[in-house]
Amino acid sequence: MVLKNVCCIGAGYVGGPTCSVIAWKCPDICVHVVDKSEMRIKQWNSDKLPIYEPGLEEVVKECRGRNLFFSNDIETAVKEADLIFISVNTPTKTYGIGKGRAADLKHIEMCARKIAEVAEGHKIVVEKSTVPVRAAESITHILSANTKPGVSFQVLSNPEFLAEGTAIENLLEPDRVLIGGEESAEGNEAVAQLTWIYSHWVPTEKIITTSTWSSELSKLASNAFLAQRVSSINAISALCEATGADVSQVAGAVGRDSRIGSKFLQASVGFGGSCFQKDLLNLVYIAECVNLPEVAMYWQQVTDMNEYQRTRFAKRIVECLFNTVTDKTLAVFGFAFKKNTGDTRESPAIYVCSHLLEEGAQLNIYDPKLVNGRPVRGPLQVLIDLWDKESYDEVRTTFGYVLDLDKLQSTCELAREELHKTQEVESKQIQCDLTSVAVTSEPERVQQLINIYSDPYDAVTDAHAIVVLTEWDEFKKYDYKKMLSVMKKPAFIFDGRKILDHEALINIGFHTETIGKRFSRNTLLRASGGDL
Ligand code: UDX
Ligand code: ADP
Repeated sequence: MVLKNVCCIGAGYVGGPTCSVIAWKCPDICVHVVDKSEMRIKQWNSDKLPIYEPGLEEVVKECRGRNLFFSNDIETAVKEADLIFISVNTPTKTYGIGKGRAADLKHIEMCARKIAEVAEGHKIVVEKSTVPVRAAESITHILSANTKPGVSFQVLSNPEFLAEGTAIENLLEPDRVLIGGEESAEGNEAVAQLTWIYSHWVPTEKIITTSTWSSELSKLASNAFLAQRVSSINAISALCEATGADVSQVAGAVGRDSRIGSKFLQASVGFGGSCFQKDLLNLVYIAECVNLPEVAMYWQQVTDMNEYQRTRFAKRIVECLFNTVTDKTLAVFGFAFKKNTGDTRESPAIYVCSHLLEEGAQLNIYDPKLVNGRPVRGPLQVLIDLWDKESYDEVRTTFGYVLDLDKLQSTCELAREELHKTQEVESKQIQCDLTSVAVTSEPERVQQLINIYSDPYDAVTDAHAIVVLTEWDEFKKYDYKKMLSVMKKPAFIFDGRKILDHEALINIGFHTETIGKRFSRNTLLRASGGDL
């Protein structure tokens, strides 16, 4: 079989960029990216793509309408495709067995059922979404139990290792491409077909083939190892603060050992993003399910350490601000989970802000991509994230109401659509969508405590402190002297990403705090003008 048509169900962070690159590198293949969300597809077909990734726009512009198509017509795309990627979201379950830990496979299952319903002839089905080990087996079961005469399937696992902000770079020059398949002649043939797609631009020695289960587990293990490194250095950062060592120096020394390596040793306010937490919890759940409690506990500690780091940082802010932030204004710089992305999923900012809001702080939030860029997860999302976090369980307990997240998502998409049309609707739309009982038990309070700014200098006016929660490069370039002049004194700066020039900040008069390092009393005295 010569692959001519590829379809991808799910036009999200993974499916969109991955298939755009496939279309770009394989002009001989026609790629249809389909999604159930009309809004998402409309955005992919517009000048404002639904996600921001450096280089993505150029790739999409070159291929769209040529051999890359975005649509809501899932059935036709599936029918015509030789190979179907499933690239839908697999969030952590928020209900039932495995709640809070297991991956929710309902979207995957719906895709498998849809494929079984409409497919004709032979199809290769490729799971790209992050899934628990043996999910391919479940997909195979659903497909074979619903197969019609003349229809056959081969299911492959092909996990994605792209990181947000560098997705196109990672896709074009991957460290490896992993393909897992059934160990049979048909399985090998399907693996060869997918290998052929990637071999258009990836050297064959970088394409690894394994069993399906090994491939599925490798994805979870890779993210768990990366998250573990961040938690390890964050654990050391707490020790540094207590002992007077400097975590950057320690990380530099440790990372020079070629066996350890220097990457992913940047201490921070904690890791975020849609993958690390989800995959760790998934791993923990799998270990528990196969009766390996020690293994489960080991990986659970990585996420516990992350939570500890976020809380520790928030507590330190409160402590430094004379043990109260009630009615104090704090300028928050950065809400995305890392720089160069508009994504706020599991961002440490959500947790730190929630903590500060609980303490009654007024937050002036500024994030370059959320405000000035495309509001993919814009000001609206900032509020959704905070309110979801704060009230999700409480709302459920109080009202016995199970949140319909799909409904919430479509409401928010409508709101976002409005936001695209005119910025004036913003506050009205936010109020109307998010004061609903399904979203928060205290909407008025949170709403009053949050202001979203499009200019960082406005955000710091009359603020008691600046809290840096994302490592955006532009934060390093600000005129902090100018900022200090409009802030309340003593003015504090809490650098949760270790990106600023701390000595310079202390010299101009900021009381400066960062992760993994305590400044000496002399410098603090200088910062406070000797008042402390
Ligand atoms: C991650 C994996 O890197 C990628 O391979 C996988 O496919 C998806 O999950 P991503 O979530 O986009 O990618 O972000 P990543 O760059 O890995 O960062 C995750 C989090 O860790 C961010 O919040 C980041 O700020 C934090 N981090 C990373 C640190 O705090 N310190 C570090 O040294 C590195
Ligand atoms: P990821 O980061 O894994 O790519 P996203 O949430 O960014 O996740 O994207 C997943 C996409 O999958 C969303 O656009 C969502 O609308 C889509 N999706 C989920 N379930 C289905 C389904 N059954 N059919 C079609 N699209 C779906």
